[in-house]
Amino acid sequence: MAKMEVKTSLLDDMIGVGDMVLLEPLNEDSFINNLKKRFDHNEVYTYIGSVVISINPYRSLPIYTPEKVEEYRNRNFYELSPHIFALSDEAYRSLRDQDKDQCILITGESGAGKTEASKLVMSYVAAVCGKGAEVNQVKEQLLQSNPVLEAFGNAKTVRNDNSSRFGKYMDIEFDFKGDPLGGVISNYLLEKSRVVKQPRGERNFHIFYQILSGASEEFLCKLKLERDFSRYNYLGLDSAKVNGVDDASNFRTVRNAMQIVGFMDHETQSVFEVVAAVLKLGNIEFKPESRANGLDESKIKDKNELKEICELTGIDQSVLERAFSFRTVEAKQEKVSTTLNVAQAYYARDALAKNLYSRLFSWLVTRINESIKAQTKVRKKVMGVLDIYGFEIFEDNSFEQFIINYCNEKLQQIFIELTLKEEQEEYIREGIEWTNIEYFNNAIICDLIENNQTGILAMLDEECLRPGTVTDDTFLEKLNQVCATHQHFESRMSKCSRFLNDTSLPHSCFRIQHYAGKVMYQVEGFVDKNNDLLYRDLSQAMWKANHSLIKALFPEGNPAKINLKRPPTAGSQFKASVATLMKNLQTKNPNYIRCIKPNDKKAAHIFNDALVCHQIRYLGLLENVRVRRAGYAFRQAYEPCLERYKMLCKQTWPHWRGPARAGVEVLFDELGIPEEEFSFGRSKIFIRNPRTLFKLEDLRKQRLEDLATLIEKIYRGWKCRTRFLLMKNSQIVIASWVRRYAQQKRYQKIKSSAIIVQSYIRGWKARKLLRELKHLKRCNEAATIIAAYWHGTQARGELRRLKEEARNKHAIAVIWACWLGYKVRREYRKFFRANAGRKIYEFTLQRLMQKYFLEMKKKMPSLSPIDKNWPARPYLFLDSTHKELRRIFHLWRCKKYRDQFTDQQKLIYEEKLEASELFKDKKALYPASVGQPFQGAYLEISENPKYKKLKDAVDEKIIIAEVVNKINRANGKATSRIFLLTKNNVLLADQKNGTIKSEVPLGDVTKVSMSSQNDGFFAVHLKEGSEAATKGDFLLSSDHLIEMATKLYRTTLSQTKQKLNIEISDEFLVQFKQDKVCVKFIQGSQKNGNIPTCKRKNNRLLEVAVP
Ligand SMILES: Nc1ncnc2c1ncn2[C@@H]1O[C@H](COP(=O)(O)OP(=O)(O)O)[C@@H](O)[C@H]1O
Ligand SMILES: [Mg+2]
Repeated sequence: MAKMEVKTSLLDDMIGVGDMVLLEPLNEDSFINNLKKRFDHNEVYTYIGSVVISINPYRSLPIYTPEKVEEYRNRNFYELSPHIFALSDEAYRSLRDQDKDQCILITGESGAGKTEASKLVMSYVAAVCGKGAEVNQVKEQLLQSNPVLEAFGNAKTVRNDNSSRFGKYMDIEFDFKGDPLGGVISNYLLEKSRVVKQPRGERNFHIFYQILSGASEEFLCKLKLERDFSRYNYLGLDSAKVNGVDDASNFRTVRNAMQIVGFMDHETQSVFEVVAAVLKLGNIEFKPESRANGLDESKIKDKNELKEICELTGIDQSVLERAFSFRTVEAKQEKVSTTLNVAQAYYARDALAKNLYSRLFSWLVTRINESIKAQTKVRKKVMGVLDIYGFEIFEDNSFEQFIINYCNEKLQQIFIELTLKEEQEEYIREGIEWTNIEYFNNAIICDLIENNQTGILAMLDEECLRPGTVTDDTFLEKLNQVCATHQHFESRMSKCSRFLNDTSLPHSCFRIQHYAGKVMYQVEGFVDKNNDLLYRDLSQAMWKANHSLIKALFPEGNPAKINLKRPPTAGSQFKASVATLMKNLQTKNPNYIRCIKPNDKKAAHIFNDALVCHQIRYLGLLENVRVRRAGYAFRQAYEPCLERYKMLCKQTWPHWRGPARAGVEVLFDELGIPEEEFSFGRSKIFIRNPRTLFKLEDLRKQRLEDLATLIEKIYRGWKCRTRFLLMKNSQIVIASWVRRYAQQKRYQKIKSSAIIVQSYIRGWKARKLLRELKHLKRCNEAATIIAAYWHGTQARGELRRLKEEARNKHAIAVIWACWLGYKVRREYRKFFRANAGRKIYEFTLQRLMQKYFLEMKKKMPSLSPIDKNWPARPYLFLDSTHKELRRIFHLWRCKKYRDQFTDQQKLIYEEKLEASELFKDKKALYPASVGQPFQGAYLEISENPKYKKLKDAVDEKIIIAEVVNKINRANGKATSRIFLLTKNNVLLADQKNGTIKSEVPLGDVTKVSMSSQNDGFFAVHLKEGSEAATKGDFLLSSDHLIEMATKLYRTTLSQTKQKLNIEISDEFLVQFKQDKVCVKFIQGSQKNGNIPTCKRKNNRLLEVAVP
């Protein structure tokens, strides 16, 4: 997606004011408040025109991300909120596009964030400049030079854990396209005194700690070092460890950086050997040894350390040992050797250590420069980044602070010069009249220090070169003489004794009123430090070292190049290099970053007003603003100005067709801004007062709100309309659907109703039709019936008529026949006899009878008397004949059947017939007896010898001989008896022996009684008074009762000619002796199976239970 270019302005969403130039009212309080307000809102950057004020946040803010880089890339300086990237971008683009060499001057106190700022600038430029393998390598080398130099040149101080103890100016070189080609680094005055001594709470240079923490055991062994800070005198023990600093990992970073920058392995090795040597030098101690001449000579206490140093550096031990004990002074072909006392020996030792280290540092810079220098000879564009130590005020300020503050003084001056110059140039460029501005020019202070005749540095050099005893005090005296009248110089001993009463100023001090404040300097050490003396014996000893790096570090030690001229003093060297720097900077377009420290505690979120106020004062920031605002507070190119405010005027809104300047003129005219408030430059509008700008801003804001409202209104209208239209459309669609649905429903309802109605109508119609059809059919049927009836009637009528006719015809025929018969009979009567008819009748009858009998013959039934068949009667008139004939036939048939019987059979049938007459339908026992032939003699009396006596006693023919049960008259129990019936008697005999028990003549038997039931009981009643009757009537029971009774009856009848009375009744009386006993038959239980039981109930009753 193409990045959307949004025209914004610094003025948008400002916290406080983003550009101090716009501050109203402008005074110290408002200035600080504005900074504070912004700082509290994490806005650490604020502009004064094109100068960036940076307040150290002391914590990482998320404002240096690659996204931020992109945001600030190719944007105008005032477009976004103040940022160091905006300044970097401005500088880089003006270098690339306008071919102007740039310098970025970063100033501020120690710990204010200069080094960080310089790194941010470099990283921004690296991020936005060209890309490619080669370019990237150059960038990487440039960036990686930082950790190397920081390790060797930075240290923890009370103000800053990573304080740069050297000044650094780095030129980054670009080709015409803006791609980096390389760089050149210049270093200024390393604070070498730190190598041998560190103030309380501070550390030596980082590299010492890094080696001891981070190097491998093997490497440490090679360097003859021990991993123990306390072993080394040069390492102050106060703050060996720094919070949040990992020396070991930093060591790896440094080695890695060295490799990237291009250090060879042996070079790296040599560098660390030198570092180790410096560290070990500190451990060399001296002791006094009295000499013959009475003077003390120093001797090395323990030579072991010296030995190791010499092994490490390839120096002849004796040479070095001697150099610590003697000093050779050469003057005019004459060599004078003097011994060193202990103090001098220590001085020599420390001087050597300091020199070794500072020269090593310079060598490192040179070596890095070698690596990063541009490879081509093409014309280069340069961007210089100056990160120099800031203005320093300590309790004890020495030569170093003096030098550092001098440098800052120079920088301030160039700042004033350049700012003013630029301002002036712009006015000229824009054709605006220049008005002079009052500001403090620190040139006078610079003059106090650097003046070739009367400057403090010149004084110091003079003192150093002067023969005779030279001390710091003589130097101070000199100063007191020369500078006494200077406004910015203060001392107790100055000529006019202006400061005699100022007890805060000790005698051994002088005070300079720097632009940034008064600083009191201790003169002690000034001379020495300025001389920066290293005894020739030592430098020669170094030169003799079998170590190429050390040898190279001390070229003056080469006896062949012996130079009796004194080397330039530190002060003059520094002055010269500062001068060169200033010259260099003046040729470039300056960009300022002014760093401010918000507090002394290195803590985030704390804003110390007093501290900031002090810095603002000495940095002259208010003056800066004033200069900037001297004529006109605000200026802006016509295009962006018109772009920003065009909505304030009808003519220019929304589009102005014509030159921007004319547009702005119209705009300002329209807005009625007083003429003295602004001025039209060539390309910019200059606004005198910030108030005017803010008025414009307010108007713009107001107008923007109106416009926003307008846009909102239109947008809302549009949105509502769109929504309305959409809703309308939707409503139509929905309505159509709803209607469709409703219609569909209605249609379906109507349809179903129609179907129902239709079906009803159809049904009704059908029924109607059916009714009609039925009616029609009935009519038809009726018609048919009527017709049928009608036809029937007709037909019957016709039939009747025909019948009538036929009858008539018949009648006629009969009448005719009768009449004819009559006529014939009358005619023929005379020919027939009168009874011929009778004969015919008889003949016919005869014939019929004949036929009947012949046919009967054929149809005769069988001869069986029980055959009921008989042919049907053929003629009615033979009815009685036919019946008679049947009777006759039957009788004949029976006779024929009877004729077949023998006499015996006849007798049996007679008896049977008798039995039938007596018992049929009277006694239930009878039917069972019909089939039984009457045997009579069941017992073979004559054959059985047992009964011989009985046979003998009865000489008559026995009709019945049978065993019966005689019922005991007393108890009803049965006893077996033989029953015999003869022609005249009834006999009862014992069954066993045949003894006759009773003999009754038939004439004495009066009656036989029996029940009507199926039992064999019977009573034989005897004639009263007879012999037999004394005991009473017999009560017997027999299986052959019917046969016995029948035979008794017949026999009695044939003998006595009297009919025996047979009484059949279920209750009869019998005579037992005197008693008349009633025998009663009852339908009894089947206790004894089928055998009837007899029981004498009382003397009047005998019960027989019949099953
Ligand atoms: N922009 C920044 N963001 C976060 N921390 C910062 C920033 N600038 C400085 N600091 C902090 O302040 C410390 C001191 O900064 P430095 O640049 O070394 O100061 P100077 O070089 O001015 O003495 C740094 O080590 C870092 O912790
Ligand atoms: Mg620094």
